[in-house]
Amino acid sequence: MINDKLPKIWYGGDYNPEQWDKEIMNEDLRMFKLAGIDVATINVFSWALLQPSEDIYDFTWLDDIIERLYTSGTYVCLATSTGAHPAWMARKYPDVLRVDFEGRKRKFGARHNSCPNSPTYRKYSERIAEKLAERYKDHPAILIWHISNEYGGYCYCDQCADGFRTWLQARYATLGQVNKAWNTNFWGHTFYDWEEIVPPNALSEERTGDNTFFQGISLDYRRFMSDSLLECYKLEYNAIKKHTPELPVTTNLMGLYKELDYFKWAKHLDVISWDNYPSFNTPTSLTAMTHDLMRGLKEGQPFMLMEQTPSQQNWQPYNSLKRPGVMKLWSYQAVARGADTVMFFQLRRSVGACEKYHGAVIEHVGHEHTRVFRECAELGAELQTLSDKLLDARANTRVGIIYDWENRWAVELSSGPTVALQYVDEVHKYYDALFQQNIQANLISTEADFSNYDIIIAPVLYMVQKGFAKQIEQFVHDGGTFLTTFFSGIVNENDIVTLGGYPGELRKVLGIWAEEIDALYPDQSNQIVLTESWGALHGQYQCGLLCDLIHAEGAEVKAVYGSEFYQGMPVLTVNKFGAGQAWYVASSPEPSFLQGLLGNLCKEKGITAPIPPVAGIEVTTRTTANNSYLFVLNHNDQPTSIELGDLTGTDLITGEPIKNKITLPPKGVLILEKNESTQNSIKS
Ligand code: GLA
Ligand code: ZN
Repeated sequence: MINDKLPKIWYGGDYNPEQWDKEIMNEDLRMFKLAGIDVATINVFSWALLQPSEDIYDFTWLDDIIERLYTSGTYVCLATSTGAHPAWMARKYPDVLRVDFEGRKRKFGARHNSCPNSPTYRKYSERIAEKLAERYKDHPAILIWHISNEYGGYCYCDQCADGFRTWLQARYATLGQVNKAWNTNFWGHTFYDWEEIVPPNALSEERTGDNTFFQGISLDYRRFMSDSLLECYKLEYNAIKKHTPELPVTTNLMGLYKELDYFKWAKHLDVISWDNYPSFNTPTSLTAMTHDLMRGLKEGQPFMLMEQTPSQQNWQPYNSLKRPGVMKLWSYQAVARGADTVMFFQLRRSVGACEKYHGAVIEHVGHEHTRVFRECAELGAELQTLSDKLLDARANTRVGIIYDWENRWAVELSSGPTVALQYVDEVHKYYDALFQQNIQANLISTEADFSNYDIIIAPVLYMVQKGFAKQIEQFVHDGGTFLTTFFSGIVNENDIVTLGGYPGELRKVLGIWAEEIDALYPDQSNQIVLTESWGALHGQYQCGLLCDLIHAEGAEVKAVYGSEFYQGMPVLTVNKFGAGQAWYVASSPEPSFLQGLLGNLCKEKGITAPIPPVAGIEVTTRTTANNSYLFVLNHNDQPTSIELGDLTGTDLITGEPIKNKITLPPKGVLILEKNESTQNSIKS
C-alpha cells in the first residue's frame, strides 16, 4: 500500500488555490466532498511564493492551505515546488538558466527551466525541500512527497560541459578510453585534453535532436543529462528522507518520455507515478503498454496515476473533449494495469496563463452542475465502493517484453539504415499482438530476472548491454523462449559494432548470421512466406521497413522472403539452444503475422487468455493475496457482448452476481471478482 493512512484508491489531483481568492477554496472543499476527492497535490509550482527572496521564506499561506484541506477531509500529496525557479534567482544567479540545443543562453521564463548542474539550483532546491520536510514532517495530512515536476529537457551550458567531463572521467578514467569508446579517429576527432570535449548540440555534433555525427558522445551526453537531473532529484529526496523516512517519495514521470532513463531513475523512487495524456486517437494498446511500462519500472508494486485530464488538454494541436464515459474508462484502464490512484491535472481551472483552457474537475463556472463534474463524482463514488479491495494487486504474467532507454537512444541516433525506424513503434507492434489476444505482458529492463518468464521478446535490440547476451543464453538454455528481430545485436553499449557478423553477441543463441540489411521505402514491402503451415500461421504475410538478409547457422527456417534478390532467404528462424528456443524475425511484419506468431509461442508455453478476444474489449487480470479480478473494458461506441465461459463471480461495483455472458454499454467497465472455484483458471 502506498500509504495506509488512506487505504483505498486515492482520488484527487493537482490543486493550485494560491492562484485565486481565498473564499473560492471553501467552495472547492465543498465540491471535493461531493466528488469523493480525498487527495490534493499542492505546491507544485510555488517556489517564488515560498521564497520571495534569497533569505526570506514564507510558509504561512501553505500552512493555511494544508490545514484547510486536512480539516475538511482531504489528504495532501506535497510537492517541493522546484519545477520552476523564481525570477529573482534567475536575475541574481544566471547559472540557474539553461543553454538550449541551439546554444542560446535562456532568460527567465516558462518552467522545467533550471540547469541541472547549476550550483545555485542544487543548493536552493535541496534547501527548500528540506525546509518543507522539517516544517510538515508531523502533519497528518501528508500522504506522499512529490519532488519537482516532470523532470526533463537538457542543458548545454559551460557548467554542464564541466560536469560532463567529470562524468566521463568517472566512467572511462582516461582520455584514451574515451577516444576508444567513441572511435574518435573517425573524422580526426582525437581528444588530447579533457577541455576539448564540448556538449553535442547544434553548435557541435548534432543537427536535430536525433541526428548526430558521433553516436558515442551523443549517447553519453544523454546518459549524463539523465544522471544530472537524477542527481537533483536525489538531493531533494535525501533532504526529505532525513526528516520523514517513513513517508513515500515520488516524482511524476511521463511514460514513454525519451530523454530520461526511467529504469535507472526508478531505483530512487519509493513509488512510481506518471502523467497520462493520450490524444483522441492514441491506440488503446499504446496507453496500455505505457501503463505496463510504468508498472514494470518497479514490478510487483502499485504505481500512481498522478495526472490525467478530466476532459481536455490545452497543449495538443486539437484538444478534443473526452467523450462521456471515456474519463472513467481510462481511469479504470490505469487501475486495471496496476494503478492504486486516480488523479487529475487539475482540480480547478486556472483563470490566467496557458493552462486556463486545460480541463479540470471544477470548471470556470464554479459549480457542480457540469457534465465533467458529474462524471468525476460518479467515479469518486465508485472508488469509495471499491475500498481497499484492489490495492497492491499484481499483474501475473509469464511474458516479458524488453524496453531499453539507452537502446532507444542508440537506435534513433543511428545514421542509417532508415529514418523510419522508431523503437517505440516496433515494441508496440509486439505488445499489441499480445494485447489483441487478451494476453498480458510485463515491460521489463535488460536487468530483469528473466527466470520469472517463459517468453522474452526483445524488439530491435540494436544495442546489447554488457552481460545481456550471456543471460539470454542462460535463459534459453534453461528452457525459455527468446525472440528478437532485425537490427539487433549490432553494437555494444558505446554504439561500437561487434565485429564478426551480425547479430554479434546474440549470434550464437540465435543460430544465424545477418549478412546485409536492406531498407525499404514506405511504399515498398516484401513477403514472409511460411515454409509450412504452423498453428495460426499459414501462407504469406507482408513485411517492410528493414529486411535483414540472414543465413541459418543451425537455426531452422520457418519462413522465407517472397521477393527481391533475396527471395528464398530466411525471414523467420528458430534455434534450439539447450532446452529452449531463440527466434529471429528478420523484418517488420504486418499485425496478423505477429498475432499468429506470438499466439503460437504462447500456446506452446501454455499461456492462455482468460477469455476469448472481442474487438474493442480490453481484458486484464489483477491478483491480490486472496482474490483475482478480471477487468473487462469496453472501448467501443456500441454495447458489446462478451462470453465469460465458465468464469463466475461478482461485479465489484454493483455487487451483482455475474456468469456466462455480459453485455457492456459503450465505454462500460466490469470488474469481476472471481469466485474461488474459478480463481485458478487464469494463467496470464
Ligand atoms: C503536465 C504537468 C502539469 C500540467 C499538465 C497539463 O503533466 O505536470 O503541471 O502542465 O501537464 O496537461
Ligand atoms: Zn547547464
